[in-house]
Amino acid sequence: MVFGVILAGGVGSRMGNVEKPKQFLKIGGKPILIHTVEKFLMHDSFQELIVLTPTEWIEHTKNLLKKYLGEAGSTVKVLKGGSTRNETIMNSIAYIEEKYGLDDDTLIVTHDSVRPFLTYRIIEENIKYGLQYGACDTVIPATDTIVHSEDGKVITSVPDRSKMYQGQTPQTFGAKKLKELYQSLTEEEKEILTDASKIFVIKGEQVYLVEGEVYNTKITYPYDLRVAESLLNDQKNGQ
Ligand code: CTP
Repeated sequence: MVFGVILAGGVGSRMGNVEKPKQFLKIGGKPILIHTVEKFLMHDSFQELIVLTPTEWIEHTKNLLKKYLGEAGSTVKVLKGGSTRNETIMNSIAYIEEKYGLDDDTLIVTHDSVRPFLTYRIIEENIKYGLQYGACDTVIPATDTIVHSEDGKVITSVPDRSKMYQGQTPQTFGAKKLKELYQSLTEEEKEILTDASKIFVIKGEQVYLVEGEVYNTKITYPYDLRVAESLLNDQKNGQ
């Protein structure tokens, strides 16, 4: 069974002083989260779609799903997110485990709610390679040279750019394996995790690379909202 897990449990502090978490801000007249859910609804491989939000935004999210997506929106499960992004993912796994049980073929396609430009192909390949390899991550080749610094003052090394990639989402995992690996981490290990693929990597497990798109960008800062608006306009005008 394959599940779509849309992560909307953050507060969007880098967006600055806005009245709601960034996933609820509108682009092209619709909340960002709704654009993202629409992309998942285009696929029929999902047993269920799950959206996780801060507790105080659960009702609001249910209302938005109904308002913008009607019947299809009502089929989306809305759950409470966690204190970190990985804890939010764990909440989705707990729900799936309770309702369906976890087996080796239970796959979760996890995606940032604030990446509304993902494509049908990206989701399709995540499912394909997730089933084949047990874990995969969406990336694009690094365009800037990546500079590594241990102390934030001087360069420690400059890795070969042709081997560097920028991580996007979706990230897709066997849910059972992800849960087991996460539970085996120490608190210190959990603290340095910025994403879920790293859980596999630090435990020596392979994560296959899926080709992303430059425009599968994450809305983080106010500037990104303006970029997202113009990307939407380009799409509308067929550019
Ligand atoms: N996220 C989540 N649960 C958390 C934290 C983040 O589901 N406890 C989600 C966010 O809602 C977002 C995605 O993870 O869709 C990517 O995270 P990020 O861009 O860092 O979002 P925020 O944590 O909301 O942003 P900020 O770091 O600026 O506060």
